[in-house]
Amino acid sequence: MDDNVNTATLAALESACPGLRLTTEAAVLESHGLDWTRFRKPAPSAVVFPESVEQVRQLVATAAEQGIPLVPSGGRTGLSGGAVAAQGEVVVSFDRMRQILGFDPVDRTVTVQAGVVTAAVQEFARQNGLYYPVSFASEGSSQIGGNIATNAGGIRVLRYGLTRDQVAGIKVVTGRGEILEFNCGLVKNASGYDLRHLFVASEGTLGLIVEATLKLRDPPLPAKVLLLGVESMDALMKVFDALRSSLDLTAFEFFTDRALHHVRHANKLPEPFETPCPLYVIAEFDCPGEADEEKAMACFEACADEGWLLDGVISQNDRQVKEMWRYREGISESISHFPPYKNDLSVRISRVPDFLDRMDSLILEICPDYEVVWYGHIGDGNLHMNILKPADVELSDFEARSHEISDKTYALTQEMDGSISAEHGIGLLKQPWLNRVRSEAEITLMRGVKQVFDPAGIFNPGKLLQDTKRIEKSTA
Ligand code: MLT
Ligand code: ZN
Repeated sequence: MDDNVNTATLAALESACPGLRLTTEAAVLESHGLDWTRFRKPAPSAVVFPESVEQVRQLVATAAEQGIPLVPSGGRTGLSGGAVAAQGEVVVSFDRMRQILGFDPVDRTVTVQAGVVTAAVQEFARQNGLYYPVSFASEGSSQIGGNIATNAGGIRVLRYGLTRDQVAGIKVVTGRGEILEFNCGLVKNASGYDLRHLFVASEGTLGLIVEATLKLRDPPLPAKVLLLGVESMDALMKVFDALRSSLDLTAFEFFTDRALHHVRHANKLPEPFETPCPLYVIAEFDCPGEADEEKAMACFEACADEGWLLDGVISQNDRQVKEMWRYREGISESISHFPPYKNDLSVRISRVPDFLDRMDSLILEICPDYEVVWYGHIGDGNLHMNILKPADVELSDFEARSHEISDKTYALTQEMDGSISAEHGIGLLKQPWLNRVRSEAEITLMRGVKQVFDPAGIFNPGKLLQDTKRIEKSTA
């Protein structure tokens, strides 16, 4: 248990927050103390389920007074340990704040409580003839508050941007016990610092996001998907360039033959092509009419003539669109039982082939005995590297080895001016390497910001920020 959390402080929390549901039931502590990472044992002291903004405010004010560490918790689908409570913290679950509060068809915004599930926002938009574009495999359980706190990305960033780009306003409770509302759904607002954006990707370290106003878009045009097989990364990038120049792409994703192996095996999917290919692409594009399909076919043939494609198929109806996406969207879950050591690296798009080449050599050098599965949102430079734990290796040994791999991977990422987290966040797992991609001066400023919003240091302690100095590139 955390030193500041004991029966007396929990009782103080309960009496200061009338009606607050608080539990210390072992099963709930276990389920709510962990996200989708598997490298820590959950050990919170309690889980609380506030039902209103006022209750959150009371909770935060008391926690700040008593020094009780709080770990915000959404759908717990995170992959960096950002929602892990392993040190006796109190988990703040938003499971009871799931209301859609308002819809404005003129502004084209929806205002929701933090615990609303991503898929529910998508569905609400659809029912109102609009579209919420953030989409990823865990959208059926992830919550909007968590999406904002990690700046969730997904498969359509190429067209619509990240969660950050959808946030028209947020309401937060800061560590000073204040309820603040940022930007209020405005399109234009030039009145100084945009504090809303400090909370996007803050990983729950500045305060608790309690409500959000999200932008909705025009409904998407009918789409088609190309599933392509390619020989090399160079060819893949040429195909990307060609498709991007002639089609309105909404997504451009890739995966390797090993990723295909696992997703096929787990979901009993057929081989997409007669002859296996080293790399596969899923490209989705607007295709409202026959002329668009003809354009896509012409582009496909031009790529084939250039020798960049080994095989390919185009969807003929919406059912096939869904079936093709299963090859990409099912990968993460198909390897989750190993468990994998996961990474969500990014580099500038132009540097992707070089980066992957150098990463492959690095992996061969440091862990030739481990299976590596690559996939990701290559159209925006975000690559998921998953190293699978062999069945005969202990989890603790695997973790120690992963640590070594991280050291070298992140040194290379730094050398190539990339990021060690494109969309999953720094959390606990990548925290020791934040200084690979953020300078000492930046980290000092980030700490200063945290101090302003969270003077008692109660929010998500141990996540994101740490106490080391910048490792300069030359020492990498
Ligand atoms: C994905 O792109 O599939 C998700 O980010 C999850 C993952 O990285 O495994
Ligand atoms: Zn991803």
